[in-house]
Order: sequence, then structure tokens, then C-alpha cells
Amino acid sequence: MKKGLVALSSLLLGILFMANAGATEACISCHKSVTPGIVADYQQSKMAEEGVTCLDCHQGDPAKDPSVRDHNGYKITPVVSPKYCERCHEEQVEQFLKSKHAWTAFIGPLKPWYNEMVSQGKDPLKLETALANNPRDFIRDKLTPLYPDSGALKRAGLLDLESYNHENQVLGCLECHGSYVIAKDGEILDGWPNVGVGRVNPDGSLGSCSACHTRHSFSRAEARKPETCGQCHLGPDHPQMEIYEESKHGNIFFSMEDHSFLEEEELTPENTRAPTCAVCHMSGFNGAKTTHDVGARLYWELQPKKSVPQWDDPKLVPLGKQKPDEEQAKRGRAEMKRVCRGCHSPAWVDGYFESFDKVVNDYNKVYEYTEKLLNTAYEEGLISKDNPIDEIPEVMYYYIWHHDGRRWRMGASMMGPDWTHWNGAVDALMDKLNMMEEWIKMQRENKQLEERVAALEQQKGVCGPTAVAALALLPLAGYATLRRRRKL
Ligand code: HEC
Ligand code: HEC
Ligand code: HEC
Ligand code: HEC
Ligand code: HEC
Ligand code: HEC
Ligand code: HEC
Ligand code: HEC
Repeated sequence: MKKGLVALSSLLLGILFMANAGATEACISCHKSVTPGIVADYQQSKMAEEGVTCLDCHQGDPAKDPSVRDHNGYKITPVVSPKYCERCHEEQVEQFLKSKHAWTAFIGPLKPWYNEMVSQGKDPLKLETALANNPRDFIRDKLTPLYPDSGALKRAGLLDLESYNHENQVLGCLECHGSYVIAKDGEILDGWPNVGVGRVNPDGSLGSCSACHTRHSFSRAEARKPETCGQCHLGPDHPQMEIYEESKHGNIFFSMEDHSFLEEEELTPENTRAPTCAVCHMSGFNGAKTTHDVGARLYWELQPKKSVPQWDDPKLVPLGKQKPDEEQAKRGRAEMKRVCRGCHSPAWVDGYFESFDKVVNDYNKVYEYTEKLLNTAYEEGLISKDNPIDEIPEVMYYYIWHHDGRRWRMGASMMGPDWTHWNGAVDALMDKLNMMEEWIKMQRENKQLEERVAALEQQKGVCGPTAVAALALLPLAGYATLRRRRKL
């Protein structure tokens, strides 16, 4: 019975392939001149070889996907969401949807909008919600630590200015995290083009497979290359690419002249000299199973203010309702170790992780101290909470967890010693934490002086010359101390 079903469905799929194959000739005959690059990539792809056609991916139903439009007698969409791939790659899509990659537009830049819609009782995944409340317009001038303008835009009078676009969010945040693609009656109105990994599609699905499998070669070998991940995983706050380049693993990989092992059907310890990002995080390797959930082999959350074991569920993160899940984290660690053990002895691997966990522990201790320090500054009235990121202690606190402290932890997780120490611990402690302490100490002294001057004034009833001189010198003294610290 089951066999019969399989035979029947392959027959139906076969017929579909044949019908679509005819259409594909029509697509190609035109697109060879309209978009020759696309046709050439497609023709060299594994999927073309297997008979997958243009229509298999592009044909849609306007009732289910408002981006579908009439196109030379066919109903097609340019936004080929994971739903279109799901028909043939169910397992990969299912795993991907469990990952933070799929949810990252809402975990990241669109989070304030997501929360607002939920609190209004609206479904953020419904296109009507986005049509009535444009997400990009909503977030563009939200003053949160995610847009650390340090009060500078407000002071410059640009924060709410109609003609200031905040467009760095579109070609910045949304390019990596994904945009909200809004379409109506076959017309795409907003958020396009975009291949951010957590793109919100007009059919209500999440993600973009072409973030790693670029169209139209959709190559597995390309996705296994570190450069694919490095497009987003780089820079001051998550320098995974730079860390990898520094590590022995990246070193070996980039010094190899021939990377054709990435074309192998399966990567094994025998055919792989050095692991790439994908080998450690995704590929089937040494008994670890292939996964499209990039969180599946992690123990820690290394990006938040304080590191905890992996959170339970990505879709709870935008609402802040996620919880650490120690059991899942332990499974992830075991799976990661399986990968390492393809090339290293268990003692080598355990030794490394023991040391890495100690680094995370040390950072966490520094974070707790930093948080207390910041709260003291609030309690003493030295700074105010109205803008969470415009005063020196707030800015330093932000750098400590969001930049330097991430580098410290992430460098240690992936064998990047310079990122662990110089770009991590040293920047967090010697530079930022010292700066924060110094500023608070100085402000405390200033405040005491001000109070003494005020008391003196009250006593004498007039403003004596000493008091005037002391007051005039305050900002100068403060500036000199800061200058010494920052080497401005
Ligand atoms: C008669 C020529 C012709 C045929 C046949 C044709 N196309 Fe196109 N296609 C075009 C042109 C011209 C454009 C660019 C202008 C436009 O968007 O309509 C285009 C654009 C597209 C786009 C991008 C749309 C966008 O909004 O960016 C997709 C996707 C597409 N075609 C897919 C297909 C598929 C799939 C087929 C076969 C079922 C096909 N085309 C058949 C001429 C054709
Ligand atoms: C395996 C699925 C798949 C197949 C097969 C496929 N496409 Fe695409 N196509 C995509 C994806 C994915 C995108 C990128 C949009 C996205 O990220 O969703 C895309 C984008 C496009 C675009 C717009 C991109 C641009 O740069 O303007 C055109 C035009 C297009 N395809 C035409 C074709 C034509 C013609 C064929 C057949 C020769 C074809 N596609 C076959 C999945 C496919
Ligand atoms: C009509 C069925 C069908 C659809 C739709 C489809 N694929 Fe495929 N895909 C295949 C087949 C068949 C293969 C070859 C066998 C295999 O590797 O699973 C393949 C292979 C692949 C591979 C491996 C290529 C390699 O280098 O070995 C990737 C990656 C891939 N598909 C991604 C996608 C993505 C992304 C989409 C949607 C944009 C998609 N596919 C849509 C049928 C399909
Ligand atoms: C170069 C690509 C890129 C840009 C631009 C970018 N991000 Fe990210 N972002 C990432 C990556 C990669 C991570 C994952 C870091 C990690 O887990 O190591 C991340 C992590 C985050 C996180 C933490 C997610 C979590 O699980 O806690 C937030 C929030 C975030 N980004 C928001 C933003 C916002 C808002 C912007 C724009 C102001 C932005 N990002 C710009 C790539 C980018
Ligand atoms: C973060 C990057 C990334 C994204 C996003 C991604 N893939 Fe992959 N994909 C890979 C890597 C890496 C491999 C190779 C795994 C290996 O080495 O075994 C792969 C392999 C595949 C394969 C070949 C079969 C296999 O499991 O090895 C298919 C099919 C596939 N992906 C489909 C998809 C689909 C469909 C989506 C969108 C839901 C998608 N991928 C999104 C990185 C990605
Ligand atoms: C040798 C294996 C290995 C390689 C190669 C590797 N990683 Fe990792 N990666 C790890 C380990 C181990 C961790 C920490 C796991 C844990 O938390 O226990 C990690 C953690 C991460 C994290 C999680 C950070 C967070 O916020 O929690 C990201 C993102 C990441 N790696 C991306 C990458 C990228 C991108 C590359 C390639 C440029 C890469 N990795 C290369 C092993 C590797
Ligand atoms: C288009 C941008 C983009 C690409 C390409 C990309 N990532 Fe990511 N990745 C992100 C963003 C954004 C996040 C942050 C997710 C979050 O926490 O919201 C992330 C998070 C991660 C995490 C942490 C997951 C977790 O659960 O904490 C890992 C590991 C990771 N990526 C690995 C990879 C690997 C390996 C590749 C390449 C095969 C890759 N990424 C390609 C943008 C990207
Ligand atoms: C595909 C094989 C492979 C995998 C998988 C792999 N490594 Fe390696 N690793 C190597 C090779 C080769 C070296 C270089 C050894 C040497 O210096 O001779 C190396 C070096 C190292 C080093 C020494 C770094 C230095 O600075 O000298 C450490 C630590 C390490 N690996 C840890 C790990 C951990 C932890 C994992 C899993 C998360 C892992 N490796 C996964 C092949 C691998």
C-alpha cells in the first residue's frame, strides 16, 4: 500500500515535471535574453540536472500568496519562500523553521513592532497586519538600545525629521536579519528585494533559503563555504568570520589550494582537512546528523547580556518569554563534540570545552559587576533612564556586553585567541569598565562639590568668589580626566 502510494506520487510528480518542462522552455527562451545570468546559473545547477523547472519554484496560487501575478500566461511570484521548496525538501524546511535564523527578523530589528502588534491583539505574521501598520515605518525612529544613536540624532534634530530616512536600517539590519515583504494583488509594495535569512514572506512563511543557497545554482558546496556565513557573521559585535580566519581551522582551510572536497556527497573526517562553519554547525559529520537548525549543536547563548544555556524556543524570543533549556543545551554540546572527535581525541576536545566554559563564567561575573555599577549610577541620580543609551556609563555598559564581551566569549568558543584576549577581555576591562568607573567616580565627586557649593551659598546668602571659581572649573576638570582616559 505504502509502496503503491510512493509509486503513484512519483508518477504524478513525473507528469508535473513534464508539463512544467514545456513551460520552462518558454521561460528560458525569453529569459535567455531578459536575464541571461539566471538562466546560465539554473542550467548548471543540480536541480536543473534533476529536472526541477522554473515553474516548480515560481508558480503560485494568488489566493494563498498575494505576491503571485500573471506573467505571460503563467501565475508566478519572484518571492520563492521556503513554502515553495517544502514540497520537495520537507525535512530541511522543518529544521530551518525551528532555528533562530527563521525568526531573526522578529528577534532582531522588527522586535519592537512585533511586540506592539501582539499587545494590540494582532497577528504579526498576517499580511493584513503589516499592510495596516507598516513595520519599517514603525521601527525607524524607535529609540532602543538596538539603534544606539547615543542621543546624537535627537541633539542634531534629526531623530524625528520627516526627511531623515533612517535607511541604514534597511540596507543594514534588514539585509542580514530579513525584511517584511508586503504584497497586494500581485504587486510588491515594500521590503523587496531582500534575502535576509529571517525574511517574512507574503505567504506568511518565514525565511529565505537563498541566504545560503544563492539562486539559481542552489549549491550545497557553496553553502558549505565559510564566506557564505561570513556575509552576516562578521564585524565588531559578532566577528565569527574574523575568529575563524584567525583559528587554526580557518588557517588550514584558506591555505588549501583545492576546496573541491566541498563538492563531496558527504563530508567525512577522511575527506575533510579542516572544518568550515557548516561542518561544525550543520553538516552530517562523523555521526552527527545534518541539520538546518543552526542552534542544534550549541550549549551557550553567547550574544545576550549574560550567557545562559540555549533558550528553548526561538519564537518566544521576540516576546522575551524564552527560558534556558539545559537539557537541549547538553544535547547540543554532545553533538558538537561528536563533530570534533572526527579529527581530535576525546581528551583534547573535553579539555578545550572545559576552558571555554570557564571563559563564559568569567565574563558572566564581569557582567554582573557591570550591571550593579550601572544601577548604582541610576540610584545615585548620576544618570537618568529616559534615553537608555545616551550617557557614558550606559554607552560603556552597552559596549561591554554587546561588543567586547561578545568577542571575548565568541573568540573562546571558536579558537580565536586574539579575539578572546585583546579584542575581548582587554577592551571590556581595561578600556570600557575602567572608563565607566572613572566617569562615575568623577560625577560623584562633582555632585558632592556641587552640594557643598550650594550649601555654602545658602549659608552666606550670596555667591562667594571661591564658589564661582569652583563651579567654573568643574566641566574643565571632567573633560581633562576623560581626555586622559580616551586619548581623544
Ligand atoms: C515573453 C517573454 C517572457 C516569458 C515567456 C517569461 N518571462 Fe519572466 N520576465 C520577462 C521580462 C521581460 C521580465 C522583466 C519585467 C517583468 O518583471 O515583467 C520578467 C520577469 C520575471 C520575473 C521577475 C519578476 C519580478 O518582479 O522581479 C520572474 C520571477 C520571471 N520572469 C519568471 C518567469 C517564469 C518562471 C517564466 C516561465 C513560466 C517566465 N518568466 C516566462 C519575460 C518573460
Ligand atoms: C529551485 C527553485 C527555483 C528554480 C528552479 C528557479 N528559480 Fe528563479 N528564483 C528562485 C529563488 C529562491 C529566487 C530568489 C528570490 C527569493 O529569495 O525568494 C528566484 C528569483 C528569480 C528571479 C528574480 C531575481 C532577480 O534577480 O531579478 C527571476 C527573474 C527568476 N528567478 C527566474 C527564473 C527562471 C527563468 C527560472 C528557470 C530558468 C527559474 N527562475 C528557476 C527559485 C527558483
Ligand atoms: C520539484 C521539487 C523541488 C523543488 C520545488 C525544490 N527542489 Fe531542491 N532539489 C530537488 C531535487 C530532486 C534535488 C536533487 C536531489 C537532492 O539533492 O535532494 C534537489 C537538490 C537541492 C539542493 C542540493 C544541491 C546540491 O548542490 O547538491 C539544494 C541546496 C536545494 N535543492 C535547494 C532548494 C531550494 C532552496 C528550493 C526552493 C527555493 C528548492 N530546492 C526547491 C527538488 C526540488
Ligand atoms: C552584518 C549583518 C547584520 C547586521 C547589519 C545587523 N545584524 Fe543583528 N545580528 C547579526 C548576526 C549574525 C547575529 C547573531 C550573533 C550571534 O548569535 O552570535 C545578530 C544578532 C542580533 C541580535 C541578538 C539576537 C538574539 O538571539 O539575542 C539582535 C537583537 C540584533 N542582531 C538586532 C539587530 C539590529 C536592530 C540591527 C540594526 C540596527 C542589526 N541587528 C544589524 C547580523 C547582523
Ligand atoms: C545558514 C545557511 C543555510 C540556509 C539558510 C539554508 N541552507 Fe540548505 N544547506 C546548507 C548547508 C551548509 C548544506 C550542506 C549540509 C552538509 O554539508 O551536509 C545544505 C544542504 C541543503 C540540501 C541538500 C541536502 C542536505 O541536507 O545536505 C538541501 C536540499 C537544502 N540545503 C535545502 C534548503 C532549503 C529548502 C532551505 C530553506 C528552508 C535551506 N536549505 C536553507 C546551508 C543552508
Ligand atoms: C571547529 C568548529 C567550529 C567552526 C569551524 C565554527 N564554529 Fe561557530 N561555534 C563552535 C562552537 C564550539 C561554538 C560554541 C558552542 C557552545 O555554545 O557550546 C560556536 C558558536 C557559534 C555561534 C553562536 C554564538 C551565540 O550567539 O551563541 C555562532 C553564531 C557561530 N558559532 C557561527 C560560526 C560561523 C559563522 C563560523 C564560520 C565563519 C563558525 N561558527 C565556525 C564551533 C565552530
Ligand atoms: C543573511 C545573513 C546570515 C547568513 C548568510 C548566515 N547567518 Fe547565521 N545568523 C544570522 C543572524 C541574523 C543570526 C541571529 C539569530 C538570532 O539570534 O536572532 C544568526 C545566528 C546564527 C547562529 C546562532 C544560532 C542560535 O541558536 O543561537 C549560528 C550558529 C549561525 N547563525 C550559523 C550560521 C552558519 C554556519 C551560516 C553559514 C552556513 C550562517 N549562519 C549564515 C544571519 C546569517
Ligand atoms: C575536519 C577535522 C577537524 C574538526 C572537525 C575539528 N578540528 Fe580542530 N583542528 C584540526 C586540525 C587539522 C588542527 C591543526 C592541528 C595542528 O596544529 O597540527 C586543529 C586544531 C585545533 C586546535 C588547536 C588550535 C591552535 O591554536 O593550535 C584546537 C583547540 C581544536 N582544533 C579544537 C577543535 C574543537 C573543539 C573542535 C570541535 C568544535 C574541532 N577542533 C573540530 C581539525 C579539525
